[in-house]
Amino acid sequence: MKFGILNGPNLNRLGQREPAIYGSQTLADLEQSIIDKAKELGVTVECFQSNHEGDLIEKIHHWAECQFNGFVLNGAAFTHTSIALRDAIASSDLAFVEVHISNVYAREEFRHKSYTAPLAKGIIAGLGLDGYLHALEWLVRHPSSP
Ligand code: DQA
Repeated sequence: MKFGILNGPNLNRLGQREPAIYGSQTLADLEQSIIDKAKELGVTVECFQSNHEGDLIEKIHHWAECQFNGFVLNGAAFTHTSIALRDAIASSDLAFVEVHISNVYAREEFRHKSYTAPLAKGIIAGLGLDGYLHALEWLVRHPSSP
């Protein structure tokens, strides 16, 4: 089985970016721990990060066409703004878990709205980078069948 890990804008700056909120680990650290977890679970993962909405959308299309079994999404700020990202997911029929490193519900009100969450199987917010690993474990037990 193969799963995607999709990270949106500014997550390439993990480790440097507001460490009090997002922690001191880098995106490379995060991706390595996901790859290690995938090995342990016996599945394949593709990690992708972009600051560009269209790249994220095209990656979802690609994963749908390549018959992935689901993906973990941290759409970052696009979570709160992007109808296009939501429509890409709706077109894909892939199971996904939405992850936020921080507890968005304990932050500014504009972070409480997610365009993508209504399509998600579930949402994990505020568990730091562990959220990605929990999301992947769950997806492996509840994959979408191509
Ligand atoms: C985030 C929360 C978003 O509100 C923010 O724009 C991000 C990161 C999180 O992981 O906590 O970039 O998705």
